[in-house]
Amino acid sequence: MKFFIDTANLDQIKEAEDLGILDGVTTNPSLMAKEGISGANNILQHYVNICKIVDGPVSAEVIATDFDGMVKEGDNLAELHPNIVVKVPMTKDGIKAIKYFSTKGIKTNCTLIFSAGQALIAAKAGATYVSPFIGRLDDISVSGVGLIEQIRLIFDNYMFDTEILAASVRHPMHIIECAEIGADVMTGPLSAILALINHPLTDSGLAKFLADYNKLNG
Ligand code: E4P
Repeated sequence: MKFFIDTANLDQIKEAEDLGILDGVTTNPSLMAKEGISGANNILQHYVNICKIVDGPVSAEVIATDFDGMVKEGDNLAELHPNIVVKVPMTKDGIKAIKYFSTKGIKTNCTLIFSAGQALIAAKAGATYVSPFIGRLDDISVSGVGLIEQIRLIFDNYMFDTEILAASVRHPMHIIECAEIGADVMTGPLSAILALINHPLTDSGLAKFLADYNKLNG
């Protein structure tokens, strides 16, 4: 299972990269705004800065919502760095743009997926990744993890190459449940990734080992 970090914060990306388990990064316009990144040139430079930290796929989202605009913006983004993945919203024009990019060999991440039908059509258009937003589904009392399960079954039935990128991950149980189902990738905040490391029995066990060692050697 690949681990992507879902942030545009360079310090957090560095911290996750230093752990040695980071496979990539996802961003979106809200995450860029949270870091105060504005203006076309600054935004493009920020993606390049992220690519310098992580040697893996970095999703950069288009702002345009029409086909021509998405294609122009996506072509531009793809030229920034070989690791850039063009993130395209799940709309009719978005599907056409994904087909265009996949024909050109440009990697795509179809974002804002909330149903199995949306994932199926994105896969048929040749998306490299589909991003079902599991946390936002949970927020409206629909099982986000249930959607991952449904998409896994469909993609396996037809051997689609498109990877399931579980997005809108909020906590460590989301990661574990997605891993049980077989999501190819998860993207989440640093806090959810770090939470996987912790267990109180590990802490107390380590404290006891050190105390016993120190009794004789301290
Ligand atoms: C990443 O690709 C998504 O944009 C992101 O995971 C959305 O997360 P949120 O629902 O916490 O905003």
